[in-house]
Amino acid sequence: MVDRRNRPTALATTPGLPPQPQVNFSHENSRVTAVLPAGESVEVLLYGATVISWKNRFGIEKLWLSDAAKLDGSKAVRGGIPLVFPVFGTAPDHAATSKLPQHGFARNSRWEFLGKSSSESASPSDISVKLDFGLSSATLDDQVKSLWPYTFSIIYSVTLTPENLSTSIVVTNDGNQPIEFQTLMHTYLRVEDISKIQVTGLEESDYVDKVDAAKEKKQSGAVTIAGEVDRVYSPAKGPSSPVVVTEDGETVFSIVRDNLKDVVVWNPWTDKAAGMGDFEPKDGFKNMICIEAGSVKGWITLDPSDAFEGAQTISD
Ligand code: BG6
Repeated sequence: MVDRRNRPTALATTPGLPPQPQVNFSHENSRVTAVLPAGESVEVLLYGATVISWKNRFGIEKLWLSDAAKLDGSKAVRGGIPLVFPVFGTAPDHAATSKLPQHGFARNSRWEFLGKSSSESASPSDISVKLDFGLSSATLDDQVKSLWPYTFSIIYSVTLTPENLSTSIVVTNDGNQPIEFQTLMHTYLRVEDISKIQVTGLEESDYVDKVDAAKEKKQSGAVTIAGEVDRVYSPAKGPSSPVVVTEDGETVFSIVRDNLKDVVVWNPWTDKAAGMGDFEPKDGFKNMICIEAGSVKGWITLDPSDAFEGAQTISD
């Protein structure tokens, strides 16, 4: 029997126009899905404004999502693109964020869907759709507000085109005291075989090695993964210079950044994956690599009325 509660509800389309993106809600309005006319799609949970799926026109999934990921709002999603804000990891020595959980509260908060906008084009190759999500101190859970008592608003936009997926964040300080924060787009990319993966674009970059006592190191050559990797890179090249993931020599992803100065590369490998209850299958680390665009070294300071904007674009 069809579960009527989870049946997608189509938004109105205008007859006579060339095929336009379709935007649907499902799961009692807790998920939004956008589909382009040629079949590319993106699915976003209002919980965390977490992108949980990005498929190309052939229906091939580009993001890794754990089989045990909680999608019911009880826990941050293990996979897709959780959004880290206002702290990366934990920061016991940073008074303003020291009380917050790992990676902050954005990925554990229910966001509002603000609306969709589509590009107008007769040519399917130019058609895109943008989904906007909002989170602000006005809608934040009281318990979280007490841990981080700032007045702010965030617009997070997810844009799907036939060629790529972009996510962008705009944080505005609506209060009367400066806000210090970090943010990061914790993207889990799906790969066939981690042993065949190389990440280029980070050559000669300084990084902090979180699995080796946070030592400062310099990357020589491409990054390969043959064990647990958890590194915060300060890319030597500018944000518009792509970080490229190749598999067996073929480009599978290319990531460019806008105003996000850092890149985290993470793969939990065997032991860390085994220790995460929501990481399934346990050997799933062979099929994922996190390339995370963000600003997580030091703090972004936002004066009253100022706004910060940062974005990533991932091409496949
Ligand atoms: C990465 C961090 O960004 O996120 C890692 O660098 C961390 O240290 C990983 O383990 C996953 O974090 P979480 O909170 O989702 O388990």
